[in-house]
Amino acid sequence: MDQVKWNVGVIGAGVMGERMMNAIRTHEKFRVAAVSDVSAERAQEAAQKSGDVPWYTNYKELLKKVELDVIYLAVPPKFHHAIALDVLAHKKHLLCEKPLANSLTEAQEMLEAANDAGVVHAMNFPLYYQGVFPELSRRLEEIGDVRRIDILTHFHQWPRPWQQTPWLAGREQGGFIREVLPHFTHLTYELFGDLHVVRSEVDYPADHDLCETGVSAFLRLTDGTPVTINGLAGIAHEEHLDYRVYGSKGTLSVVNWSNLFVGGHGEALVPAEVPQQDRLSLLLDELSIAMNGGDARLVTFETGVKVQQVLEALLGHEKVHYIK
Ligand SMILES: NC(=O)c1ccc[n+]([C@@H]2O[C@H](COP(=O)([O-])OP(=O)(O)OC[C@H]3O[C@@H](n4cnc5c(N)ncnc54)[C@H](O)[C@@H]3O)[C@@H](O)[C@H]2O)c1
Repeated sequence: MDQVKWNVGVIGAGVMGERMMNAIRTHEKFRVAAVSDVSAERAQEAAQKSGDVPWYTNYKELLKKVELDVIYLAVPPKFHHAIALDVLAHKKHLLCEKPLANSLTEAQEMLEAANDAGVVHAMNFPLYYQGVFPELSRRLEEIGDVRRIDILTHFHQWPRPWQQTPWLAGREQGGFIREVLPHFTHLTYELFGDLHVVRSEVDYPADHDLCETGVSAFLRLTDGTPVTINGLAGIAHEEHLDYRVYGSKGTLSVVNWSNLFVGGHGEALVPAEVPQQDRLSLLLDELSIAMNGGDARLVTFETGVKVQQVLEALLGHEKVHYIK
């Protein structure tokens, strides 16, 4: 029998935690049942907004004391691994933020632990649930043979004004390569299959504690189709993201996450209609289906490991190689 509402334990009540809790609070299948954040102020505030549910500064207390069905993990990346392994030891379903972990080994261990626990494991890649995804997939058939994919991520300011938190500026776990590029390498994986990094050059500032300021990378799909990445932070103009697919008969371009532009032979790129979809609500719908034992459209840790492999190769941490 289907559960009336699943109880979610939220670990990490920062920018993403708050965003997801807003979605959970209005979702018919889930409720926020407990919150943990190392900041008592954030944990308490989020718990109050969720109907005065219990809150903890130590997530281990949350895992011990409350009967929870699923954990949403939204702490900075270097804490994902240790907390996820604890969650999985408690055999709770786990929705984890991207990137899955802070190294490939950590990501692989998380996948193994999730499989051993036999729980539902999923990640939050919002683009996968936005209207632009089905529209892009549909239109791929119209543009002929794909000749090249260009991924451009330019930031006026990094970290961005709405994400002013020190870890995002640091080399250990921050930077736009970890924070933003996984969205686009994941999108590429879902649309075209495996990809591998042929070469990647990362520019860093002199201060060894600070994250990258640029990346130029060349990747290929398994059929040899080239993929380029051009990332820069600290440029003069405003933030601009462009995911562009060049086909033999047309070009598709996703600008700033949700705007789709299309152009045929000799035509200028023009805006195309994209259906509006509530991405977090759709993700929660799918999560509920999976928790009820159904086939769901989720990004599992298995895919998370593939995305991590590309990420680590872009950062130069992994040998450049094919992803199988
Ligand atoms: N899916 C997306 O679109 C998207 C967007 C932004 C960020 N993210 C990811 O979400 C995660 C969180 O990012 P954010 O922007 O919310 O960061 P944030 O810094 O705003 O929030 C992180 C929160 O985790 C708390 N925290 C740290 N260690 C903790 C611990 N051990 N136990 C409990 N709480 C702890 C911090 O106090 C903070 O409140 C990161 O992995 C980030 O990459 C995903």
